[in-house]
Amino acid sequence: MLLEIHEVLKPEQVHAMRSALLEPQWVDGNQTSGHQSALAKRNRQLPENSPIAQECGKTILKALQGCGLFMSAALPQRVFPPLFNRYEGGEHFANHVDNAIRALPMGGQIRTDLSATLFLSDPQDYDGGELLVDDTYGAHKVKLSAGSMILYPSTSLHRVTPVTRGMRLASFFWIQSMIRDDGQRTLLFDLDMSIHRLRQQLGPEHEALVSQTGIYHNLLRRWAEP
Ligand code: NI
Repeated sequence: MLLEIHEVLKPEQVHAMRSALLEPQWVDGNQTSGHQSALAKRNRQLPENSPIAQECGKTILKALQGCGLFMSAALPQRVFPPLFNRYEGGEHFANHVDNAIRALPMGGQIRTDLSATLFLSDPQDYDGGELLVDDTYGAHKVKLSAGSMILYPSTSLHRVTPVTRGMRLASFFWIQSMIRDDGQRTLLFDLDMSIHRLRQQLGPEHEALVSQTGIYHNLLRRWAEP
């Protein structure tokens, strides 16, 4: 499932984050790459231990916790502390699949079930810099407004086209989901969305709603690895 989540951050949060992020020293993006993707990547990143990156990352994690659509779609078990990248002057990221397992900065590891890009630059401020994500239906072009986010299965081949004007600033991170399988996770998300619609149409006490909510939880119980 490829899902756009709009306005994860409020405009004032995006503005504050953008100006804070431009202060510290940016390094070659290959510091976080696996061997294969190091060959593909041409961009810059903030170091994981940059205090400003950590502060901005916390703001993003807090916003995600309050975002019902994200919680329902990702069913997160753990979220990698958000990283930040910038592309300018023709920088790009060629086709790659993200590493399956990543070391967490606080110790331990995370399995990357879902990848997320949170756009921090306004699309009119740069040319190029589209995220292209392949699935069985072809390549999807993603370039969202500042503060909006795309969530996609980490199994997908993806790339970022060269930024030919301006600068593209974004946050990126990974999610280990309680539901490892994308098909199962998508079914649960569809069911949850359908339950929300039913609740609005029928009211919270309707029998059909009670039974569907029960089915949702029983599927979650069967499939989840919390
Ligand atoms: Ni990637």
